[in-house]
Amino acid sequence: MSRSAAAKRPAPPPPQPAPQPAPKRARAAQPSPQPPPSQPAPQPASGLASDIDSIIGHHARELSEKLQAHRLELFPPAAQKTLRPFQASEAAKLLGVNSGYLRNLALEGRGPEPAVTPSGRRSYTAAQIQALRRHLDETGRPGRRYLPWRRDGEALQVVAVVNFKGGSGKTTTAAHLAQHLALRGHRVLAIDLDPQASLSSLHGFQPEFDVGENETLYAAIRYDERVRPLAEVIRRTNFPGLDIVPGNIELMEFEYDTPRVLASGLSGAGTGAADERLFFTRLQAALTTVADDYDVVVIDCPPQLGYLTMSALCTATAILITVHPQMLDVMSMSQFLLMMGDLLSHLKRAGGNMGYDWLRYLVTRYEPSDGPQTQMVGFLRSLFGQHVLTHPMVKSVAIADAGITKQTLYEVERRQFTAATYDRAMEALDAVNGEIEQLIHAAWGRR
Ligand SMILES: Nc1ncnc2c1ncn2[C@@H]1O[C@H](COP(=O)(O)OP(=O)(O)O)[C@@H](O)[C@H]1O
Ligand SMILES: [Mg+2]
Repeated sequence: MSRSAAAKRPAPPPPQPAPQPAPKRARAAQPSPQPPPSQPAPQPASGLASDIDSIIGHHARELSEKLQAHRLELFPPAAQKTLRPFQASEAAKLLGVNSGYLRNLALEGRGPEPAVTPSGRRSYTAAQIQALRRHLDETGRPGRRYLPWRRDGEALQVVAVVNFKGGSGKTTTAAHLAQHLALRGHRVLAIDLDPQASLSSLHGFQPEFDVGENETLYAAIRYDERVRPLAEVIRRTNFPGLDIVPGNIELMEFEYDTPRVLASGLSGAGTGAADERLFFTRLQAALTTVADDYDVVVIDCPPQLGYLTMSALCTATAILITVHPQMLDVMSMSQFLLMMGDLLSHLKRAGGNMGYDWLRYLVTRYEPSDGPQTQMVGFLRSLFGQHVLTHPMVKSVAIADAGITKQTLYEVERRQFTAATYDRAMEALDAVNGEIEQLIHAAWGRR
């Protein structure tokens, strides 16, 4: 951007639509987020480029303060994000048993005791659902497994969610997948590899306020002596079974450090391949130190093919490419795939591990009533065949609305929405996440 152009448009767009203060969730109405009102920024004196830094600095502070105030309204300070209770029918679905069986368990006083409303509706906390899994594993039908933890010979699954198009639904997909897998009883680690840290925000960790220096994945993969064990930067989330490594802008350091380290040939081996191994094995090495505690790792990648994304691709056992089925997005993905293909073959020659259990394209924010989108989906399926997930993720105001208050569809309550809107979104989510869960189990050799 030229300096004069920069002077005309000094404010960078926020990474996500800025939420309204204390938004009241619309019932199936398209949200129209307005940025919170802010103080006027200093105006540039006749477009002097030297003022740009102070204007942007001012905007950054203003926006960050307003967003923090908004967050404090939603979640009071010390309060951890909580998780709603799950209706008995939801619990039964998550456990894979029928509602009648669950009701009998409750009536017979076996397993955790659900909360009961005066009208007799039973609900379970997510922790109780986990406890039920353990209970059923001990007392349920022999041969049937309710706790799907991996066993000997079943390798840690590392799913990288990638695409360099921002807005293709990476973060939304990663969050819902990680939460689904946790609700289904897996031990899941989500890693926010995006300096914009939307995945962290969704889990209640505001990148500028809750994530301090050396508290992101960067801490565990940095090249200097301040490197920390990965376990030290892992945090619990409001979903039992789901932990997260939060991100913030500090992750960018890895993009600056790596070329410097490569250029200085710190490995001492003197060969290009050995030097490169220095960067792309770091994430893998860090994950190995905590692998025993998890079944699945879900990595939300930044919208670019830098060293962070490449590290994720080298560590992943599976790749999920999110694609919004519109011409511009697909053209951008085409560029992404070309670059990715080149890079991967290069890294392979340098000794990178490029064996994947699966690679799938996930159609995101799909509007089935939109002719051109449906044509694009058909086109993608004809090109990539079984590599396109059978189920697309439909566009839904329930997902978008939940996102405004930094929540996922699993966190919001059904009664906050028009039932049909919520159900349609949940059905699509269940189908997509169920399909991915099956791929993970297939990689473990389970049916
Ligand atoms: N299925 C969906 N329906 C409606 N809105 C969606 C859906 N998936 C994502 N979005 C919205 O689209 C925007 C971009 O999604 P996001 O997951 O942040 O993309 P990325 O991480 O690829 O940049 C977000 O505001 C999100 O709430
Ligand atoms: Mg994102």
